[in-house]
Amino acid sequence: MIAKLDAIGEQVLKEISAAASLEALEQVRVSVLGKKGALSEVLKGLGSVGPEERPRIGAAANEWKRKIEDALEVRKGALEAAALDARLQSERLDVSLPSRLPHRGTLHPVTQATRRIVEILARLGFDVMTGPEIETEFLNFDAVNIPADHPARDMQDTFFMGPGVLLRTHTSSVQMRAMRSQSWPVRILCPGAVYRCDSDATHSPMFHQVEGLWVDRGVKMSDLKGVLSCLARELFGAEAKIRLRPSYFPFVEPGAEVDVSCFQCKGAPKAGCRICKGTGWLEILGAGMVHPRLLEMAGFREPGLTGFAFGMGVERIAMLLHEIPDLRLMFQGDVRFLKQF
Ligand code: PHE
Repeated sequence: MIAKLDAIGEQVLKEISAAASLEALEQVRVSVLGKKGALSEVLKGLGSVGPEERPRIGAAANEWKRKIEDALEVRKGALEAAALDARLQSERLDVSLPSRLPHRGTLHPVTQATRRIVEILARLGFDVMTGPEIETEFLNFDAVNIPADHPARDMQDTFFMGPGVLLRTHTSSVQMRAMRSQSWPVRILCPGAVYRCDSDATHSPMFHQVEGLWVDRGVKMSDLKGVLSCLARELFGAEAKIRLRPSYFPFVEPGAEVDVSCFQCKGAPKAGCRICKGTGWLEILGAGMVHPRLLEMAGFREPGLTGFAFGMGVERIAMLLHEIPDLRLMFQGDVRFLKQF
């Protein structure tokens, strides 16, 4: 019986040190010390042993029981320490990591496009000048040669604030302010918001323009073309070309609408082009030689004094550059849209 106890004891000690988890260890404990455990089974046979043998066997059994309990305790402690280590490792917090940065906003695509246009033209010597958005009817219309019966004066296009006062319909109103407030040469850019009573996928009641004006002795149409070619190349890429189509604006003579070659088609118009609709050209601005009447009204009487002016819609440029399909997206303030720029 002693031999049997020894065999069980040795076997159990091996199992204890091999137990890889607390659950496995518990199973070992039950298998030997439990009610139906190996040790208990052996001790049940004690009744059939002679009285002189009994104490010896009892003592041996107790001895094994104590050894096994000690071994279980030691193994349990080791497994618990390992489990704690593993948990600490998995829950490790690196307090030296940089904290999460706050979300930073971005400049609105219209602001970005305005800055870009201004930055390009400033390199050619243009200064920025601004004027009020609430303007007199005189400076918005009369002074830039838009007579009282001109269709642009129709109430449908213009927001009137009161008699003779309106929300400027274009930044051309700053042209006359510039010429009246300084003497020639004048070389200015007027960026800013303008207002027209109009709203659909390509028109908004408030939008932005950048207008340019250059008045000096001997300023020619070819100077205008040179400045606009440079602007087009800087905005749309080195291959960009421009073309001037005759057009009418009351404050210039001659006047032109200016197209830039489609930056998608690159000189070879493709029938299905999403951007130019297969024409190979994109209209980007209006321009022309300052009407002599404007120079006269500004008191610029120096012989040989000429000028050119041009004006463009900034939203239109931004829409082309970023392939934005609907102008209204610009002003809805949806961060999913704005985040892209
Ligand atoms: N003011 C014109 C517009 O708003 C643009 C323009 C400016 C055209 C200067 C010619 C010269 O449509």
